[in-house]
Amino acid sequence: MIITIDGPAGSGKSTAARKLAARLELPYLDTGAMYRAIAYQVLREGVDPGDPEAVVRLAGSMDLQLDCGPTHTRVKVNGHDVSEAIRGMEVSGVSSQIARLPRIRALLVKKQQAIGAELESLVTEGRDQGAVVFPDAEVKFVLDASLEKRAQRRYEELVADGDDADIARVQEALSTRDSSDAVEWTPLLEPGAAVRIDTSRLTISQVVERLRAHIRQLTGEKRDRSDC
Ligand code: DC
Repeated sequence: MIITIDGPAGSGKSTAARKLAARLELPYLDTGAMYRAIAYQVLREGVDPGDPEAVVRLAGSMDLQLDCGPTHTRVKVNGHDVSEAIRGMEVSGVSSQIARLPRIRALLVKKQQAIGAELESLVTEGRDQGAVVFPDAEVKFVLDASLEKRAQRRYEELVADGDDADIARVQEALSTRDSSDAVEWTPLLEPGAAVRIDTSRLTISQVVERLRAHIRQLTGEKRDRSDC
């Protein structure tokens, strides 16, 4: 079974997807980590993120490996584990910028589809998973939350990681990233194609419970229909 979870930064999709995958004992694919890994390498090699040719060349020459466990996606670039290093704000900004390049998207969409074909069942999260990468997924979710709530969550994550974060700056960066992420490629799922959940007032356990309840309902309905 393929379960897609899409939504903006701070919507709670990563934590929810991880916890859901662990409950269902399915591999978890964090597709944002793939964009982040390229952004990390762009920064590391001093490539201009505004130069599409150079970014595409670098991405094409990178050895990007993902290990999708039920509680994590570990990412290796050229043999080095960068899973933690890709989480900073500088990488976030550049990943949003390079995610707008059609050739980078095409490269990663292909990689994600290959991972899906190999694993067959997984929980995958990102922005375009239900609409573009896995249009035939059995279950699709879209999570969202208010900008303030999303900034608060992101700030708490950064502080927990030992970053000297400032909430106003985090909110401003998130708002800029929202506009950048929304430009050109934000895929629209047809109305009714996905279950939409506003997580602003929900705890993570409540979000996971809702996801599980919907999955039970949807898979039960499908089983019932095929019995007829
Ligand atoms: O979910 P995240 O914050 O780790 O994602 C990092 C960036 O990658 C974000 O700016 C949006 C982009 N992204 C994307 O364009 N498509 C995806 N499937 C996942 C992430």
